[in-house]
Amino acid sequence: MSPGIFRIEWPRPALAHLVMDDPARKVNVLDEPALLDLERAIAELEGAASLEGVVLASGKSTGFIAGADVEAIGRLTDREQVLALIRRAHAIFNRLAALRAPTVAAIDGVCLGGGTELALACDSRVAAEESAQIGLPETLLGIFPGFGGTTRLPRLVGIQTALDLILTARTLDARRAEKLGLVARAVPQAWLMRAAEERLAQLAARPAKRRRDAYRPRGFRMWLLEGNPFGRQMVFQRVEAMTRARTQGNYPAPIAAIKVMQLAHGRPISEALELEAQWVSDLVVGPVCKNLVRIFRLQERAKKEPIGDPTLKPRPVRSLALIGAGLMGGGIAELASRNGIEVRIRDVQPASLTHALQTVKSLVDERVRKRRSTRIEAAAQLARVLPTLDLTGFKRADFAIEAVIEDVDVKRRVFGELEVRVSPDAILATNTSSLSVNALADGLEHPERFCGFHFFNPVHRMPLVEVVRARQTSDATLVSAVAFARRLGKTPVVVNDSPGFVVNRILMPYLREAMHLLEDGYPLADIDASMKRFGMPMGPFAVLDEVGIDVAHKVAGVLSRAFPDRMRPSDALEKLLAAKRLGKKSGAGFYRHRGRKSVPDPNLRALLGLKRERRAQSLELLSERMVLAMINEAARCLEEGVVADAGMLDLAMIFGAGFPPFRGGLLRHADALGLARIEARLTALRAEKGERFAPARLLSKLAAEGGAFTGE
Ligand code: NAI
Repeated sequence: MSPGIFRIEWPRPALAHLVMDDPARKVNVLDEPALLDLERAIAELEGAASLEGVVLASGKSTGFIAGADVEAIGRLTDREQVLALIRRAHAIFNRLAALRAPTVAAIDGVCLGGGTELALACDSRVAAEESAQIGLPETLLGIFPGFGGTTRLPRLVGIQTALDLILTARTLDARRAEKLGLVARAVPQAWLMRAAEERLAQLAARPAKRRRDAYRPRGFRMWLLEGNPFGRQMVFQRVEAMTRARTQGNYPAPIAAIKVMQLAHGRPISEALELEAQWVSDLVVGPVCKNLVRIFRLQERAKKEPIGDPTLKPRPVRSLALIGAGLMGGGIAELASRNGIEVRIRDVQPASLTHALQTVKSLVDERVRKRRSTRIEAAAQLARVLPTLDLTGFKRADFAIEAVIEDVDVKRRVFGELEVRVSPDAILATNTSSLSVNALADGLEHPERFCGFHFFNPVHRMPLVEVVRARQTSDATLVSAVAFARRLGKTPVVVNDSPGFVVNRILMPYLREAMHLLEDGYPLADIDASMKRFGMPMGPFAVLDEVGIDVAHKVAGVLSRAFPDRMRPSDALEKLLAAKRLGKKSGAGFYRHRGRKSVPDPNLRALLGLKRERRAQSLELLSERMVLAMINEAARCLEEGVVADAGMLDLAMIFGAGFPPFRGGLLRHADALGLARIEARLTALRAEKGERFAPARLLSKLAAEGGAFTGE
């Protein structure tokens, strides 16, 4: 036990401030030592001779309480141990809730997970307008709020709001929290403690039984839905059906949260808490929680870990030069301007510039509509994007990104012009998705300040940037590029220059295998369905239509030249191109597209010259071939050192290609399947289908040693 995580201050006799301030951490985290120390502090309050009120607050400027200890959650594997820990936390929180004197949480800054649950154990809450961010994000880690949150939240804000907050894992600012009844008052930060004490006085004036803030359905509609058993049942059924459709049976936590809230409704707190403890213990030790915790950890690494030499300071970016105002240029301009960066965007076509500005405007408007930006912020953001047809204003740029058409000569010309225009210490980057960054660096006066900076489409939604190190890229450049990606709110994964980098390189054999399956006679709809069932957000043919057949063809060409033995180009792409079926953008590709709808095309097989059609014995047999193709290529990337480790590769595939998070990552999935089994399947497929299934050396080696790709 480490004493002193919680301290009690007495600003006035009988008024206690229970302050969390862990001396060993920068931010407060509710780990086991903190819980035990809380128990000690509460015992002290219970024993106080006179106590008229308690304010729970944080002594940190970094926020209230950031939640439970994610690392510890990842380590717990014994269900009985988890159950005991949760029951203990419940008992401690119950003692806080049962104190004779009223209790108020004063929430300033980040208040998440266990922090919110501790605040919920108080009678009431006040929050700082400028800083409070309150939420219960547990479902993102494959669990649900198990320190009393699932029990106490519906009693405070009603079933529907509680379900919404727990299932979406969204955070609320103080005003929204006030509106929903989660906090009693949102006040300016400077008045927070005063407001908490005023609230204590109000609570003290109430009869002891009615002291806790509690939910009362307001209005007939609310009564109809929440105040009677039929309405409630309807609410739970509707939310469960929606959640089942969304999670496809792959994420047990949201469903468990709904069940617990439904079963616990109307029962005494002690029974509700026991249900909560039982159900959440199953989740904590389950595989999905472990996989999601792993991804959380990898994400933290990608966002914070120093790259290379920790003494190298990244170059701050105030102004960005952007060349090419096409699909990607428009998206990058919106992203950078949203993050406070001044953007000069250049194109040779006035129409492209107009279109890019429209893209920025519509994305900005959408954020205002969704209340993610205020009108004032939106206007300031738009004012930061300045279009140009020449290279004026580029001198100020700290960072330049090229996003012109995918053509080596055009790109080289662009960099030739740029290099003499921007300041000597500005960084130059290319957004190419398939060309060699080393080849583009050729001819540059200062190739050390050049790297790849590969965004994914659509830029505002896809979290990944592959930061590509070319042969001559300096460490300083890499450090600055990584810091810039983080500043933009993206997750950077550093890769060495190599055809297709990591994501496209692994995706290509996967997409190619989908086409092999089609050529083998399996129906396109089944092939797509099999990967959706596996957990991918879209099937491979839907992806190809979305990306564009022309774009995919180009990337496939680059990769098939680099790896002719296993990425032989498919006739299908050629034939679709010849028929001008470019995918979604042209109304037809592998599918026919009507507005937002994609429908199978009965003439596709004839167009591609494919005759037979046969059913697979099971969808798993189809997805297996495609997944094995990905795993095998991933092993090669690792073997060649294209990416630092299996963790970063897995993160790249989740954030860049939508690999299903509940599986923990591509290589984590491979480990779970067992490498010896994978090797045996690849060997069998090699005999049946050819060399493209030849197991990667690293895979065979690990399989022979009984090893695994992922160590974390
Ligand atoms: P796009 O065709 O939509 O836009 C290219 C723009 O560059 C056009 O507006 C064109 O007028 C302009 N341009 C051509 N030559 C120029 C020059 N010398 N100076 C200034 N502007 C010039 O292309 P898109 O899709 O935006 O792709 C751009 C780059 O981003 C390519 O390298 C592509 O490989 C890469 N990329 C594309 C992704 C995608 O999904 N479309 C994803 C990731 C990277």
